[in-house]
Amino acid sequence: MSGKQPVWYEMQMVKDMMGLFGGKAIRGITSSFNSPIVYMGKAGVSSMAQLIKANMNREDRRALIVMDSFTQKFSSKVTEDLEFNEIEYKIFPGIEPEVPLANIDEGVKICEEFRPTVIIAVGGGSVMDAAKSILLKYEKPDANFFMLLPIGGPLGLRKKVRYLIAIPTTSGTGSEVTGTSVLTDTNRTPHKKLVVNNAELVPDIAILDTDFVEDMPPLLTLGSGLDAFAHAFGAYVSNWGNPLADAINIAAIKEVMKYLPRAYKYGKEDLEARAHMQQAALVAGLGFGNTVAGTEHALGHSFGKVFYVHHGLSVGLFLPYSLEFQAKVTDRWKDLCPLFNVSIENKERNILFREFMDAVKGFIHSVDGPTCVKDLSHPSITKDEYMEKLDLLTDYAENDVVSLLSYRPLSRDLYKKIYEYAWDGKEIDF
Ligand SMILES: [Fe+2]
Repeated sequence: MSGKQPVWYEMQMVKDMMGLFGGKAIRGITSSFNSPIVYMGKAGVSSMAQLIKANMNREDRRALIVMDSFTQKFSSKVTEDLEFNEIEYKIFPGIEPEVPLANIDEGVKICEEFRPTVIIAVGGGSVMDAAKSILLKYEKPDANFFMLLPIGGPLGLRKKVRYLIAIPTTSGTGSEVTGTSVLTDTNRTPHKKLVVNNAELVPDIAILDTDFVEDMPPLLTLGSGLDAFAHAFGAYVSNWGNPLADAINIAAIKEVMKYLPRAYKYGKEDLEARAHMQQAALVAGLGFGNTVAGTEHALGHSFGKVFYVHHGLSVGLFLPYSLEFQAKVTDRWKDLCPLFNVSIENKERNILFREFMDAVKGFIHSVDGPTCVKDLSHPSITKDEYMEKLDLLTDYAENDVVSLLSYRPLSRDLYKKIYEYAWDGKEIDF
């Protein structure tokens, strides 16, 4: 990889420090639990607009609505309530997929002209992530995205923008409740994912209304649902768990297991399942946003980038391998057996673990999710194509920020071996 500016989590010193503490070094210095106000249901947008009206003078109410070309169709669902509550607004519908850094600059330029006091993101993960970084750069023009360490102390945001509001149009990323903004550094060859994270980037308000998600096609329902499943699973099985996060991760796993099959099968005909999947994704977002994503995210980020596979399908595919790899050093997975009706009584550990893994894979298969690369059909990949890219897959995974947080140390050789095993679903035996 050639490039210009390295990111803090790519530095060897940081990797060494995190390795020493089993991925917990950052949490040892600081930890907190962050959440927005969450409005659920058809009155969510109206409640948000009323809150702004009640808390801000009329001359100060200026909302920038951040969208992409696809979510622009939802404009009137937001603007009607803004108009009714005398909130001036401007729409910026220009967020691009993967959010190149130049896209953030465009948004900041509009902010400098319009001077918003409210930013409302309406979209999937990319739009919500972009809104966070636009806010950051608008408020702190000198902020360095490459060196924004989560332990660097308060940023001092919200001096210009009083409310950051997120309205998700998919049910999976959890970005509506996390402080993470994933961007793309296009100055590097090949382009490189850039992860910015800070508690002050957590939105102030998240709104869940099925009007914004009811038309998701089945593949998007599946991919985003598996993303939520992986968030809650990866976070629970990690060593960053705490009672708050553990409880909500278990709740999220239960909700996904109950409602994803219905949401996937019936789509907009089953709005109850849609609403529960919105909540499951948000709850899983709180779970992993306040702890950590699992190794399946490092594996899946790389795989998705190299083979253009949906993020949720990718991380869902690699979840079993991540669980098997981490289970060598933890028993946290045992707590999850009852959710899959796997009885833990009088069973030898290996037998219990195999039963558990069969149940986890069985759930993913029940919604047509693949658990090995050769079974993937969106897109299908040949064995030669896959094996040819093993080194590239390993390069990306090794430098992913999630790798730093693994409680079982990962190396280049281990990543490569996991990818090899994932071709046809071989059980991790190392
Ligand atoms: Fe994810």
